[in-house]
Amino acid sequence: SWTTESIVDEQVAAIREQVGSKRAICALSGGVDSAVAAALVQRAIGDQLTCVYVDHGLMRKGETEQVEKDFVAATGVQLKVVDAADRFLDALSGVSDPEQKRKIIGREFIRVFEQAQAEIVAGAPSDEPVAFLVQGTLYPDVVESGGGTGTANIKSHHNVGGLPEDLEFELVEPLRKLFKDEVRMVGQELGLPEEIVQRQPFPGPGLGIRIVGEVTRERLDVLREADAIAREELTAAGLDRDIWQCPVVLLADVRSVGVQGDARTYGHPVVLRPVSSEDAMTADWSRLPYDVLARISTRITNEVAEVNRVTLDVTSKPPGTIEWE
Ligand code: XMP
Repeated sequence: SWTTESIVDEQVAAIREQVGSKRAICALSGGVDSAVAAALVQRAIGDQLTCVYVDHGLMRKGETEQVEKDFVAATGVQLKVVDAADRFLDALSGVSDPEQKRKIIGREFIRVFEQAQAEIVAGAPSDEPVAFLVQGTLYPDVVESGGGTGTANIKSHHNVGGLPEDLEFELVEPLRKLFKDEVRMVGQELGLPEEIVQRQPFPGPGLGIRIVGEVTRERLDVLREADAIAREELTAAGLDRDIWQCPVVLLADVRSVGVQGDARTYGHPVVLRPVSSEDAMTADWSRLPYDVLARISTRITNEVAEVNRVTLDVTSKPPGTIEWE
């Protein structure tokens, strides 16, 4: 539509005006907001933008590839991918407490991102310094936080190439006037992959907070397979727009007895947590059609050897949160 087109034109002009000949960086998370913000800035300033994607090894099946391949192909964006899965899993080793997991994942993320950022800053020519940080702040975030524009003062713990201790970036926030549905329209206008533009919310700590118990590589593989099946069947049933999100949770420390063919099994349960919501502050469990639930259950127990039971979470929020951790 012409309105979406004019939003793009207007923002591209504003970004060029703001950034000039300097450079910008942007952290991509795989989510809609950072992807659309990055695509807009790329449209405006091309290779003056470098994006950083930290692969923490906690993404769902195919999501990292969506960013590394499809997003780059669609936008031509200059992307630095940091494969930090080993580092995150090492740091998470032996940890079962949810808050502890969140803290560790958040801390490692900042460290890895800052290191990548410092390398990009150090590599920039002195007449085109990296002076801007792109963020996918939406209008509701602006209203909630009181509305000021700002600078991000990012402390660098890593001494790369004699950088100053504190790097100050000016923020570029091209989505500040937009609501989520408008952001999706802008993303579509910019030719981003459907899987990214229409993506449901997914927590920053990823699958790390959907494994009840310690997070290990093997458990992540199990959950990734079960989650991919649930998503596939929900999409095939045309339910993506009806549900807010559907976490699949692996109860890694729980086992139950089952039977497969002639043999006894002793596997793990997964929990399906489909919810409907307006804003994630409150939510209700989604009344999914029984035949869809049946297909998901049959496929997961047939295709994922470690899982022998599929259960459904029928708790609203409150009292239950959407995520289990
Ligand atoms: P809860 O579990 O609090 O989740 O009902 C509400 C919404 O927030 C998402 N969520 C997170 N998103 N970092 C994020 O970026 C987090 O640490 C986090 N924890 C929960 C959750 O998926 C749901 O959409």
